[in-house]
Parts: sequence; structure tokens; C-alpha cells
Amino acid sequence: MKIDGTAYRTIWPAQDGWAVEIIDQTRMPHDFAVARLTNLEEAAHAIRAMLVRGAPLIGATAAYGVALAMRADPSDAALEAAHARLLATRPTAVNLRWALERMRARLAPLPPAARVEAAYAEAAVVCDEDVAINRAIGEHGAALIREAARHKAPGEPVNVLTHCNAGWLATVDWGTALAPVYVAFEEGIRLHVWVDETRPRNQGASLTAWELNRHGVPHTVVVDNTGGHLMQHGMVDLCIVGTDRTTATGDVCNKIGTYLKALAAHDNGVPFYVALPSPTIDWGMADGVREIPIEERDAREVTELTGITADGRIETIRVTPAGSPAVNYGFDVTPARLVTGLVTERGVCPASREGLLGLFPEQGAAP
Ligand code: MRU
Repeated sequence: MKIDGTAYRTIWPAQDGWAVEIIDQTRMPHDFAVARLTNLEEAAHAIRAMLVRGAPLIGATAAYGVALAMRADPSDAALEAAHARLLATRPTAVNLRWALERMRARLAPLPPAARVEAAYAEAAVVCDEDVAINRAIGEHGAALIREAARHKAPGEPVNVLTHCNAGWLATVDWGTALAPVYVAFEEGIRLHVWVDETRPRNQGASLTAWELNRHGVPHTVVVDNTGGHLMQHGMVDLCIVGTDRTTATGDVCNKIGTYLKALAAHDNGVPFYVALPSPTIDWGMADGVREIPIEERDAREVTELTGITADGRIETIRVTPAGSPAVNYGFDVTPARLVTGLVTERGVCPASREGLLGLFPEQGAAP
């Protein structure tokens, strides 16, 4: 995406050819700062502390984390240690495991001396593939927005509701849920996006709003509990969200609060679509509610709020009484029955095993 005339991805090799640069998303929307990753520990920290976040970008960063680890020590033991260290950073997005397994499968058979070059090359391919996949998701998803536009009165925008940030900041480029929005917007379709703020970390209010704003896409930020009201009053034509892990049966795990939006959409007859690249499908899982590990983060993300003061200082304040306990589940699972369709790089399918296998028949042997 272009920022002030410069095309950015969210992760790229530094000019020196070995370090890796990222956009530090913990500083947004107040500051657009680039951070430099020079070793395995910095890559692991960037994922854990959410300098980078979003399932596809977590996977891409892990791939480069392995490359940085190989540069320090290309031995078998170091490869295994890097895999374990990075896998432990965040539990829910399956793209992390997918990227690490891909790196290990590529590097383990090579002699250690050949691993550094191969690791950087493979990480670059992971990133390039993510961009191509997301662009394809954008094309398939834009058809849904185009169809919704046919039912609108002349001049009326298609209203899309999204949750969290599944835009280009969550991927290497384009995004998943927002890719259809960008493609439709470039086509000239009139649209407007309702942006859920997405407490506690506010990825909607800080990141989705920032990127839509930069791109000139009309949007409005709403507090998380507004979606049901909007849908009851015909103010949402379709919902599109991303996902951190989708089971082989079409259950969808995404940022906490997604399930409530799907329930409200179901009750009001609003189509609820989930956009996902195939590395987000966990072909070995069938029951999302019981099987997907849900990240629990620091309760201070709930008890505190961070923002910018009028004179430009970033400050954190407490919003709960001292002594009130809080809990911070990062994700929830939306059962497949509440999902209208899955938007993948190969097309749109029903949220079911049959639907997914129709698009990915090569996975037919999976449990
Ligand atoms: O905790 P985060 O910010 O990593 O959560 C991100 C999401 O929930 C996204 O919707 C999901 O990763 C899909 S990103 C294309």
C-alpha cells in the first residue's frame, strides 16, 4: 500500500540485505515508525508484543525469524530451537505453525552451510505468496460487494461491517477482509465501512481506521457493541471479517467479539463472510470451540487504555477500580452454521468440510 507516495509492505529485508524491517504497529495510529529486527529474539519479541500482528503477518515474521536464527547458527539444533521459540510466541493464529513447518521442511534437508541463503529466499517467497493470495481474495470478495451494490438505491453506498484489523497491516499487503473493500473501492463502487473499535487493543479504531483513512475509503468507527443496533436498522449490507484459524469444518476463530457479530448478523439476515488465505485453514481440526487454543493476554490490556494527549504525549491510564480483576481472552470461535461463506484465494465456498474440499480437493485425505 502507498503511504505518502511510497509503496510499503508490512515486512521487508533491510537495505543491508540481512536485517528485517517492519512497521511497529504498537505505535499506530499516532506514529508511523519502522523497527529493525536483527536476531531471533527480536523477531519473537515483535510477534509476542504485537509490533506485528494479524495471522498472515505473524507467519511471515516467523519465517524471517528463522532466517535471522540461521544467520547466527545454521545447525540442526539452532533450527529446532528457533522453531520452538517462535512457535511459543502466540498460540491461536495457525499461520505461525504453517510458516515454521514450511521453513523447517525447506531447510532441514540442506547442509548447514546452505541454510542461510535458502532461509531468506524461502521467507521472501512466503511474503510474495501472501501478497498474491490476498489480491485474489480481494477479487473474489469484491464480487460480493458488487452484488450488494446492485440492490442499493442509486448513490447509496454498500455498508460493510468489519471487526479488528484484517487489512494490509495484518498481512504482507492488501489484507484479507479489507482486500475486497480495496478492490471494490478501486473499481469505483460506492461503499462505506463500519469499523468496530475492537477492545481491548483497539485494532479497529487504531489500525483499520488508519489504513482506510490513508486509502480514502469512507468509514466510521463504532464501539464494539454497536453492530447489533446497526444491523437491526438495515445499516449493514454485509459483514466481512478475517480469521486466525479456520477448522476443516468451517468453524472460524477470530478476534474476541466476532462471534457476537455473527449472531447479530444471523438474527437480522445480514450475510456474514470470512476472508482467509489457505494457510489459515487447520485441516487437522474439526471442532473449533473445543479444539482451537484461545490466547489469554495480560489483563492490563483490559484495565488500561492508551491514547495520545492534546500535546502529543502517548499515555496509558487505568479505567477500572484498583483491585477489580479482569480477564483478557483474545479470540472467540464462530461456528460454521453462522458463516454465510468463506472467501479464499480460490473462490467463495460454504463454511463446511464439503465447501472447503470443493476448493482444496488436494486436502481430501486430511482427517
Ligand atoms: O491479535 P491480533 O491483532 O493479531 O488479531 C488479528 C485478527 O484477529 C485478525 O482478524 C486475523 O488475524 C486475520 S488477519 C488477516
